[in-house]
Amino acid sequence: MKSPNTVPYRGKINSELRQKLLGQKSMVMWFTGLSGSGKSTIAHAVEEKLYELGRLSYVFDGDNVRHGLCSDLSFSPEGRAENLRRISEMVRLFLDAGIICLTAFISPLRADRQKCRELIDCGRFFEVYVKCSLDECERRDVKGLYKMARQGKIKNYTGISAPYEEPQEPDLVLDTCEQSLEECVDATVDFIMAKMHGTR
Ligand code: ADX
Repeated sequence: MKSPNTVPYRGKINSELRQKLLGQKSMVMWFTGLSGSGKSTIAHAVEEKLYELGRLSYVFDGDNVRHGLCSDLSFSPEGRAENLRRISEMVRLFLDAGIICLTAFISPLRADRQKCRELIDCGRFFEVYVKCSLDECERRDVKGLYKMARQGKIKNYTGISAPYEEPQEPDLVLDTCEQSLEECVDATVDFIMAKMHGTR
């Protein structure tokens, strides 16, 4: 820590009061999966559905964050770990603000995801495995990056030249090869509402 002489200030309005004001419980749905598996599409569609239900959520998206907050980071193992650490700190603030967080990062390594869980709050962190075979992600190749990775134009590409470790005990699995977008969204929203009402 390079700023040791600091004392956190605690105001009277705490997270519980903010959540009460918003009429919701803050939590994070941590979507993990290969590039092109559908994380961002599902997360944004979940945000829309929650909005319709009068719930405030916010999507943190890999490509967007890497244009701003994390634009100085590479895709090396260290770069990815720091990317996820910063996002986790940001998510902590949003949870404190009472907001439902939907994160869409590949977050390929189990150990890194575990660190995020611990840093954020184990009780409010739910891992969602967006499952899709590499073949199918490559077939979709929405951004054309798999092709470039295969040609060796992108190094350390997840699934091609860098590892993706499947979650061992995810809180929710969405199989985008088998389930429609609507089914994935409904399953996620149902999960969130059940957690909110303490029925899951
Ligand atoms: S993570 O591994 O650090 O969690 P993150 O979700 O932020 O990755 O960014 C992934 C997105 O960056 C991909 O969807 C893809 O568009 C882009 N990208 C660029 N280079 C790479 C790479 N080497 N590996 C994976 N994704 C990459």
